[in-house]
Amino acid sequence: TTAHPNLSSPHPYRSLNDSVPTINNGLAKTPPMGWNSWNAFHTHINEKQIKAVADDMVADGMKAAGYKYLILDDAWLAHHRNSKGQLMANPKRFPDGMKAIADYIHSKGLKFGIYESAGTHTCAGYPGSLNHEKQDAQTFAKWGVDYLKLDNCGNQGVSYIKRYAGMAKALKATGRPIVYSICEWGVKAPWQWAPKFGNLWRTTGDIQDNWQSVMRILDQQVGLYKYAGPGHWNDPDMLEVGNGGMTTTEYKAHFSLWAMLAAPLIAGTDLRHMSSQTKSILENKNVIAIDQDPKGAEAHKAVDNGQEEVWVKPLSDGSRAVLLLNRSSKNRFMTTTAKTVGLKKANYYKEKNLWTNKTRRTDDLIRGYVHSHGVVMYRVWPK
Ligand code: GLA
Repeated sequence: TTAHPNLSSPHPYRSLNDSVPTINNGLAKTPPMGWNSWNAFHTHINEKQIKAVADDMVADGMKAAGYKYLILDDAWLAHHRNSKGQLMANPKRFPDGMKAIADYIHSKGLKFGIYESAGTHTCAGYPGSLNHEKQDAQTFAKWGVDYLKLDNCGNQGVSYIKRYAGMAKALKATGRPIVYSICEWGVKAPWQWAPKFGNLWRTTGDIQDNWQSVMRILDQQVGLYKYAGPGHWNDPDMLEVGNGGMTTTEYKAHFSLWAMLAAPLIAGTDLRHMSSQTKSILENKNVIAIDQDPKGAEAHKAVDNGQEEVWVKPLSDGSRAVLLLNRSSKNRFMTTTAKTVGLKKANYYKEKNLWTNKTRRTDDLIRGYVHSHGVVMYRVWPK
């Protein structure tokens, strides 16, 4: 495997954030981790089921693994605002109201996230927050919301800056710490403006539970590493791990790649029926540590020869995460070098395989037998 001539140097560092202001609300110093209802349930959410998910986040070890935000996506709303213009919970799905569900989630030691849209309506047709930013932010704060995902449906062509900056201002005015997730689908290059307003911003359209979708999204992340850092992250969309549309090999690759990208790790599978295989992927401590590394650098692609790619993420202790990806339909033996991935020259290297948990001493060749649609992921220290 040779370095692709058109790719940037293997030692790139963030440049954007030296010159562009970024949000400074003190939140999401590492990529947010949590669970969101959309990929598992779509609009079919209700109070009983969400409480069960909260219970399971604790019982399944998800909370202990770092997943702390439980986020209700679209369809939690009533079809109309109340007589004072305030948002209300959907009376059929959440008869006890949002404050009650927030209290329940908080009682589990979890944080509460909610969904709205920077438009006249949400994607599922419920009342949107456009021109109600101040009032809605106050309602969220009153309920105890800790995280807001703001979608892009019903935008009426109003400028994205006006819409997303408007809610940023309204959230700040509440005085409550609320992680702000900008869900603009990557339409207007949000990495160029969203770091100023939000803690994370979607870089693409919606993920689907298949390998093609994961690869399409991955290709859209190339070059975006320079926009990410502590407090402000690219969001390649939520995880599909466990939802049945991919093989275990593919789900491991999806999860590993998201960790390399310093992506928000927002699980989206029905935790009430999580298999031990899904659990072992979502709760892999080695891989989560790569995502959550305090340096907050996002991986860049160091090598690309069409079917084989090498991604590299610099880590806070001077080691690097190195991921070998095989996009082809055949298993392959892949090799790269310490130099190619930007590791400093050393007598030898310590290399930990993050899926087998085996550590070995190596020379400057980094190699692995990589299954079709799979990855081998190492953490490598120069010694
Ligand atoms: C959009 C978003 C999704 C999800 C749905 C809900 O498609 O991109 O993540 O929130 O709306 O309707």
